[in-house]
Amino acid sequence: MIGQKEELRTTPLEELEARIARAKRKLASRVLILGHHYQRDEIIRFADYTGDSFKLARDAAAEKEKPYIVFCGVHFMAESADILTSDEQAVILPDLGAGCSMADMADIDQVLDCWEEIAGRNGKRTIPVCYMNSSAAIKAFCGDHGGIVCTSSNAHSVFRWAFERGERILFVPDEHLGRNTAHTLGIGDEELVVWDPAKPLGGCEEAALDRARVLLWKGFCSVHMHFLPEHVDRMRERFPGIRVIVHPECTAKVVAKADAMGSTEQILRAVRESAPGTCWAVGTEFHLVGRLAAELAPRGVEVMTLSPFACQCATMYRIHPRSLCYVLESLVEGCVVNRIVVPAEIARSARVALDRMLEHKG
Ligand code: 13P
Ligand code: SF4
Repeated sequence: MIGQKEELRTTPLEELEARIARAKRKLASRVLILGHHYQRDEIIRFADYTGDSFKLARDAAAEKEKPYIVFCGVHFMAESADILTSDEQAVILPDLGAGCSMADMADIDQVLDCWEEIAGRNGKRTIPVCYMNSSAAIKAFCGDHGGIVCTSSNAHSVFRWAFERGERILFVPDEHLGRNTAHTLGIGDEELVVWDPAKPLGGCEEAALDRARVLLWKGFCSVHMHFLPEHVDRMRERFPGIRVIVHPECTAKVVAKADAMGSTEQILRAVRESAPGTCWAVGTEFHLVGRLAAELAPRGVEVMTLSPFACQCATMYRIHPRSLCYVLESLVEGCVVNRIVVPAEIARSARVALDRMLEHKG
């Protein structure tokens, strides 16, 4: 297998694509290929389903007959798919180095330390809510403590669910999705605090902690941090009438200047539904934006990136046709490589939180 990997390093793209197509044909109904919207075009063209993290989790959970699910996305997505599928199904991540820097900003020990400080603080019940972009261990923690997972597509509804059960939310790990979601519920910045796991008591003042309705973990997505409020101003100056739509991992200042925010799937839906002649600036990863621009240009809908720089998710980009070819050809040879397996005890608890999430429409 090592030999085959070495050989793939120098295999030209057209040949890789032909080999992927051949292996996929041979595996036929035994394999399902899922592709997140940030994947490069050369991968997306082989995906049976594309989607945001909510839709792909649901797609994986629904495919009970497929022995192999090849997840072209990042590690936390493949972990979630493994939790939501049966033990007989193998979830495969084509490149094991495809992580998520935001998910890495919270580890379970830090979350447990934080929980010890705040769980029942000043007599208020705290509900832990974690973003899909987090480890299986953190999802399990949420499952065990009356909490839930959310994605960027259902965070509003999940926060409402949590507030029906407690007075305070601990939201891990994206400060910005948490803040933007709190704002949609009418919760202002004075009722939010940022918990910095590197500081004693999260770097918070006691009074601010007592007052807080949502504790936001100090985590962020480096891709979405590239979008700035002045990019929105510049676009509106250059293209009067332009519509601006951004992902909720952007800062609240960017979201405040945009016309709309949404998950990757929601962004695609909103832009696709617009009338010919509409011009859009989109604040999310550039593979999605580039594909959408190419798709809609013939219909007279203009789509461009909000940022003057190409904002790319480096870890999503690790999934190369070479790695897809490797895992598929290995399956044809009867060998499962790069399988993601969540230990049973963690998976059981994480599943509780994920099942709660799946009840909230994305
Ligand atoms: P979506 O759920 O919108 O696809 O977002 C996942 C993600 O990682 C965005 O950075
Ligand atoms: Fe993680 Fe950001 Fe990449 Fe999404 S875009 S997978 S949050 S690093």
